[in-house]
Formats: sequence, C-alpha cells, structure tokens
Amino acid sequence: MKILVVGGGGREHAIIKKLKENSNVEEIFALPGNGGIAADATCVDIAATDIEKITEFAIANQIDYAVVAPDDPLVLGCVDALEAQNIPCFGPNKAAAIIEGSKVFSKNLMKKYNIPTAAYEVFDDMDKALDYLDTAPIPTVIKADGLALGKGVIIAMTREEAKQAVVSIMGDKQFGASGDHIVVEEFLTGPEVSVLSFTDGKTVVPMISSMDHKRAGDNDTGLNTGGMGTVAPNPYYTKDIADECMQTIFLPTINAMKAEDRTFKGCLYFGLMLTPNGPKVIEYNCRFGDPETQVVLPLLESDLLTVMQAVTNETLAQTEVKFSDKHACCVIMASKGYPQSYEKGYEITIPAELLDNTFVAGAKLSNGKLLTNGGRVLGVTSIDDTLAGAIEKSYQKVENIKFDNRYYRNDIGQKALKAGEAK
Ligand code: AMP
Ligand code: GLY
Repeated sequence: MKILVVGGGGREHAIIKKLKENSNVEEIFALPGNGGIAADATCVDIAATDIEKITEFAIANQIDYAVVAPDDPLVLGCVDALEAQNIPCFGPNKAAAIIEGSKVFSKNLMKKYNIPTAAYEVFDDMDKALDYLDTAPIPTVIKADGLALGKGVIIAMTREEAKQAVVSIMGDKQFGASGDHIVVEEFLTGPEVSVLSFTDGKTVVPMISSMDHKRAGDNDTGLNTGGMGTVAPNPYYTKDIADECMQTIFLPTINAMKAEDRTFKGCLYFGLMLTPNGPKVIEYNCRFGDPETQVVLPLLESDLLTVMQAVTNETLAQTEVKFSDKHACCVIMASKGYPQSYEKGYEITIPAELLDNTFVAGAKLSNGKLLTNGGRVLGVTSIDDTLAGAIEKSYQKVENIKFDNRYYRNDIGQKALKAGEAK
C-alpha cells in the first residue's frame, strides 16, 4: 500500500513510524514531512494547507490511504477533497472538524447536549464584552473563536487583564478573523488530562490517557507553548473517572455530532479538567495531540493502520484496540528562546541506538546533515514498566542527543510521579 501523511511535525513522525510496522505498507509520503521524517518516509515539499496540490499528488501517485494529521487542513476540508477523488482517509471532514475550528460551535454543542464544560458567554461586539467584564467573576478565561496557533486562550487573573485581552483579540485583531467572536468562560481548576480517542462516528474507543506540560519552564512557569513533554498514562485518570467520562462526555459528544449531521470520524481529542464538580471539557481537538501522540502511539500494541481503516470503514466496534500497560515519557528538546524568537541551523547528533522512539519535529537536512529548524526540535520518548523508569530513560537519551542552543524542561513527569505515589 502507498500511504500519504499530511503534516510535518513530531506527531506525524510518530504516526509514520507506527504505520511502518504494518508489512502491507510499501511506501509512505509525508507532505511536507521534515529532515528527520525523511529517514522513515519520502518527504514532498507540499504545504499541509495546500489542499489542491495534496489532492493532485494523491491522484498522480495512486495513494491507497491518506492520514490528515494537523488541524488547519482538516478545518479547511482536506479530507473532503481527497474523498471526492475516492481516496480513503483518516480524519474528520470539514463539517465535523468545526468541533475544533470554532470554539463558539463547540461550546454551544456542549450546552445543547448537556455535556459538562465551563459556563460561558459568547460575544461578537467588543463593547458588550467589556461591559460584561465589569461584573464577571474573576479569574476568567477569554478564548478567540477560531484556530489561533494554540495562542487564542488567555487566562485573566484581573479585570484589567481580561479587558486588555478582549481589546487585543476583538479590537486589534491579534488573531485575525478568529477574533470576530469570543467566548468568555468560567475559570476551572483541577488536574488536566488529555484523552485521544478513535471514533468512526458510532463507536468511540479512548486511547491511553496522557498529561501534557504546556508551560516553557520547570514547575509550570513561563510562557505557554505547544507542549514541552508528556507522560502516559495520566495517574489522575482512574478507571472510575474513565467510566464517568465515557457516559457523560465521550458518547454524548459522538452522538451529538451525529445528531447535528456532522458525524465525526478520526481522532477526537478530549482536553479534560478533573474539577471538584466532576470531569469537564476544556477543549476538543479534531486530531491527534502533539506531543501526546509521541507517548500514546508507542504504547499502542494493535496495528495502527488496521485501526485507522476500521475508523474509515465504520467497523471500529469489531476491531481490537489494545494498549500496553507500561509507561511512556516524552521530553521535548527545543531551541533556546522558544516559544519566542530562537536561532536555528545547528547540527543535531543523535546516536544511532537512540533513534528508536525519537521523533523529529523541527529539523531539515542540508548536505546530509540534520540541522535544527524550529522551536520544538525533537520529542524523545522512552517506555518502561514504571513511570520513574520511563522518565529516567528519556533524560538519559536527552543527555546524549546534542545540538547547540538546546533547551528542555527538567521536570517532565514529576507531577505525575507525585500524583501516582499519593494514590
Ligand atoms: P490551549 O487551548 O491548548 O491553548 O490551552 C489552553 C490552556 O488554558 C488549557 O490547557 C488550560 O490549562 C487552560 N484553560 C482553558 N480553559 C480554561 C478554563 N475554563 N479554566 C481554567 N483553565 C483553562
Ligand atoms: N498538546 C496539545 C495539543 O495538541 O493541542
């Protein structure tokens, strides 16, 4: 089989490495891929958002199956375009991807179908939003409606901060048209859990749970990033909580999307907060998380392509999806300065024996050398019988992977380790 994977980050590298385990897979094309993915797939210089060129490429190369991984091509309708050419795909169509593409849509969906989430108000008028903030409970959370490169959420600790956020999103259009509408939301507290799930629109199969580390600095300090590391499973996510989430969140969401004529097929990511009043949805993503995928897929024991095809063919209920009972830890090695400005172009040296479960996010090949080319450069994952073991192995790997200007958090997994011991 010839497979096409749209995207070019660490998440896509993890997907590609897993797909390669299936012996029917002859060739994988990554559009655009990156310098590290080039070791596992044929990278083609087509942007992940160039749906016309992606479709042309798929037809010309007789692609048998396509996986569309990032949010923007999904929200733009990449799956619709490929399916129109009879190319089977993994990923939601445009109508379903709106669950991530519009926060107003997802909040209204949860309200209509009684799915637990933070209380909220929607505004399309800046003055009305500012008036509301005169009396709203503080802290509060301001969210731009559309995709905003993960930066469209502002936690405001004071009324002044909240108002400034509204002015910059709605007045100064910091995130462009994404800021035409905003959601002002109740501030929730509690441990956060990421649950990625496979769903064919009828059945939903949660993958192993995980914990992201979003802030740039140790002990959750510094700026928000795309994610500086992950562990799986998440110790806060007990069997009882998982059962409750299935009944109150996962099934109701799948059924709601079906009822709205927006059947969701693909990976639906539930960003949850375990509040004192039970688990609530913080956000939905219409795709695999990054860097959650880098700990979740290495623990998948079933064949990924088989599961993905079951999603496409709507036979997930009859398909086994099995995860290992081990632990995984992924430490992101970044360029110093990320998520703000950073230098790139430094040579990366990865000893051959450390390539396994090392996922390349921001790197390019130049004269046969792998050079840093992004904020998040590598995701270094290890698996072990215990979480402490997985953390130790990952940091040992990190110490032996070298490039100038490298930066990583030193405490990935420590919060999970404490929570696990407290149980
Ligand atoms: P993202 O949407 O991935 O940029 O993440 C935003 C982050 O903001 C989440 O991971 C939470 O930590 C936090 N957050 C979002 N909504 C709320 C809320 N209602 N209450 C408290 N924290 C929130
Ligand atoms: N790691 C969070 C996300 O993929 O959105």
